Amino acid sequence: MGRVMKKNHILAETSEQILSVVYRISSLLTEPSSIDRVLDSIIESVTEGLGFYRASLYLIDRERHLLECKCISGFTPEQENRARTRPYDLNRHDSLETKVALTGNPILVRDANADPVLTDIDHLITKKLERGCILYVPLKVKGTTIGVLGVDKRRDEPGISEKEFESLSIFANYASIIIENSRLYEALLNEKKFSEDILNSSINGILTTDIQGRITSLNPAAEEIFGIRKEDSLEKSIRDVFLSIPELDNMLKRILRRHENIKGYECALKKDGKNIILNISSSPIIDDAGNLSGILFLTLDITREREREECLQRVNRLISLGELAAGVAHEIRNPLTGIGVVLDILKSRKRLMKSDTGLLDEAAQEIERLEKLVSDLLDFARPKKFNFEPVGINDIIRSIQFLISEKCNNNNIRLTTRFGENLPKTCMDFERIRQCLLNIVINAIRAMPGGGDLTIETGCGNRLVEDEGEPCIMVSISDTGSGIPDSVRDRIFDPFFTTHHEGTGLGLSIAHSIVKEHRGTVRFDTKAGKGTRFFVLLPLDLTEGCRQQKNHSGERMP
Ligand SMILES: Nc1ncnc2c1ncn2[C@@H]1O[C@H](COP(=O)(O)OP(=O)(O)OP(=O)(O)O)[C@@H](O)[C@H]1O
Ligand SMILES: [Mg+2]
Repeated sequence: MGRVMKKNHILAETSEQILSVVYRISSLLTEPSSIDRVLDSIIESVTEGLGFYRASLYLIDRERHLLECKCISGFTPEQENRARTRPYDLNRHDSLETKVALTGNPILVRDANADPVLTDIDHLITKKLERGCILYVPLKVKGTTIGVLGVDKRRDEPGISEKEFESLSIFANYASIIIENSRLYEALLNEKKFSEDILNSSINGILTTDIQGRITSLNPAAEEIFGIRKEDSLEKSIRDVFLSIPELDNMLKRILRRHENIKGYECALKKDGKNIILNISSSPIIDDAGNLSGILFLTLDITREREREECLQRVNRLISLGELAAGVAHEIRNPLTGIGVVLDILKSRKRLMKSDTGLLDEAAQEIERLEKLVSDLLDFARPKKFNFEPVGINDIIRSIQFLISEKCNNNNIRLTTRFGENLPKTCMDFERIRQCLLNIVINAIRAMPGGGDLTIETGCGNRLVEDEGEPCIMVSISDTGSGIPDSVRDRIFDPFFTTHHEGTGLGLSIAHSIVKEHRGTVRFDTKAGKGTRFFVLLPLDLTEGCRQQKNHSGERMP
């Protein structure tokens, strides 16, 4: 009877103490904390809450079969360091700590000098730490031991009471749950961090919305592609981002109603006043319960790829059209020469009336025009040998400046030239580049029938226009003319494409072939009614250009 009462009394006292200590650490369950902070708090509760002077906490590393000291209190810095840096090997070391870790049962040693359970290792530690009484309890989660919590008292202190044994055992159960919780939280954080790293590193724009189409997340690539900032776009409707996609409503319907995946939908968007081409794939986000919880959009900016493809197609078109044109021109040339000769003979006849002579002169002029067209065609299709030599771009422009300013004066156009300073000489064909620039300038003058401004500028490519990071010489020719309508933009480099009555539509085709021969690029920006700016970009590394000259067949385009 007396023993039962004593036991009840102990339990009541223990419960009170345990409650207050558990209360101390329970906040760690509600506010997620790092594992280190959790272990510190547990040890603090053992020393301050349960009144043990020295305490240590070990966790099992199952992969390496180690029992590692993760937190310790009440020892000298040297002892602490020793414990932390020398883990127990669960396969080799036999000590109180490894016994508890392996069996999952607590060990209470009332007299550290006399208890036969102590091994050599334990005796060594006991001597160093002057342990009198030792207690190790397991830390267990769902029956599996995850570590060991230990306390001890020195020889000169009173021993560990039954009450203290009970308290530590009960406390260890709570502590185990908190440790496991914190580990899960940390694993979750790592997983989240990993997912975030993937999203942040992806070159695909990744954007998600809820089922109402409100943006719930977007990665940096999506911010870049759509030109929006995360903080400005969250909660906004997807319609604000994809505003100009006519298919959007249809896409949303297919995803939301039929849970369809949409792959590789291509569309154009306006960004900073420019058209960009996007490849969009979209799919419903389905949660574990099979419910639709949102929409995922994967987006890739493929503007550059499309430009490259178009350029390649243009070159192919030019090559085949060039072949055809050259063939026809060649066939026309002989009969033309024949007609010219006949006309000369007719003109030399004495019996001709004056009006007949006038007609013959007109016919001869038309033949001259046709011959020029034929030689233009042949020029375009089978360019003569290129003569590469080191030339300064400014010198080329100066050589046509007078001609251009004459034309500008006659058309009420203000000419401005801005020559880049210290531009290096590069390997070019002087005559060909001259011809190319003239063709572009003449177009610009023609686009300003009522007068305007013509600006010719030279510089280093990367300063004004980026051409995939390759340094280049840049010539820009801008006018304040009619601009190029969207409907014809894709065709202006096509041979024979013209919007002028007297034009042959070969000017830009020839300019394009010349620049290609120099491994350069022609680009343009245009705004209807405001004007057009053409860029000719010629690579700076023209040793290659000069070398090409040696290998050049000279008669045909490559
Ligand atoms: N600066 C410009 N402003 C507006 N439209 C332009 C400009 N440059 C070119 N174009 C358009 O591109 C078309 C093709 O130009 P291209 O130089 O190839 O031929 P063309 O000028 O019509 O004839 P050609 O040059 O053979 O006499 C032009 O007809 C015109 O519609
Ligand atoms: Mg032209």
